Amino acid sequence: MEGPKLDVEVAGIRFLNPLILASGVADETGASMAEAVRMGAGGVVTKSLSLEPREGHPNPCVVEFPYGILNAMGLPNPGVRGYSDEVEEYLSTTRGSAPIIASVFGSSIEEYAMAAGAVKDLGVHAVEINGSCPNARGLGLQFGQDPLVIEDLVKEVKATVPIPVFFKLTPACSSIVDLAQAAQMGGADGLVAVNTMPAMKIDVRTRMPVLTNVTGGLSGPALRPVGVRCVYQIANSGKVHLPIIGAGGISTWEDALEYIMAGASAVQIGTAVTWGNLDVFSKIKEGMMTYMIEERIGRISDMVGSAKGVRS
Ligand code: DHB
Repeated sequence: MEGPKLDVEVAGIRFLNPLILASGVADETGASMAEAVRMGAGGVVTKSLSLEPREGHPNPCVVEFPYGILNAMGLPNPGVRGYSDEVEEYLSTTRGSAPIIASVFGSSIEEYAMAAGAVKDLGVHAVEINGSCPNARGLGLQFGQDPLVIEDLVKEVKATVPIPVFFKLTPACSSIVDLAQAAQMGGADGLVAVNTMPAMKIDVRTRMPVLTNVTGGLSGPALRPVGVRCVYQIANSGKVHLPIIGAGGISTWEDALEYIMAGASAVQIGTAVTWGNLDVFSKIKEGMMTYMIEERIGRISDMVGSAKGVRS
């Protein structure tokens, strides 16, 4: 008998399995992203790239908790041109076996669109708009919390690139459905839910915020119930018909299935990779396969949105 099928299609892109390496984790180089694929990832997202290089914030820019990580890196990156060799190396190593999505950002809608155009020329399979970085003034969150700006931003990026465009949503909002709908109105091909949650840590001895940036983005297990709720609300709104990639605090197969049952077609894994190692992909795949055999489920896609319950 054939085993359960883990492959998924999201916005017309095929992934051998629904586990994607999230942006900003183990994606410094083409080799590190290819290693994630060798270890079982179905696809990868690049670090967030701007048209021009950026230094990022001074240390300390990371705080660890038992239940998550708070970071304010400040979107350091070598710029699209400076990263092009990494994409090339990734593509030549993986030979089309696992799609690469480029995360982009800018300080204006025009800059976002230019970054998207430049990464498209590198041969990536899709663009992920990071419209929700909590840490860089003038970059990110003020784009990602305003439905009118989201719509214009997505429209401009869509007008620039012919490849699928995903919009990554912030959980820091009063209505995740309104933000998702705005991305849909702009012509997004899919959504990523969710980015990190703005948060902070204070040192009680120095009475100072620990991060130089004062606030940062919280990821990891603490974020998971928030992300699951967001995916569920979007998928059950009756208003948004885009595929959703779930993200936020996934480290086990149960976590991944929660997101899928909430309505995600695939998921991204970040903090669990930072914390442990790349084994997480094969462990989650194994757990999902065992579950599917026990529950007699042939395809992972049969479980998308299968959580029972009232519509929200
Ligand atoms: C950073 C960017 C993000 O999109 C995020 O969610 C957290 C941190 C950063 O580079 O500071």
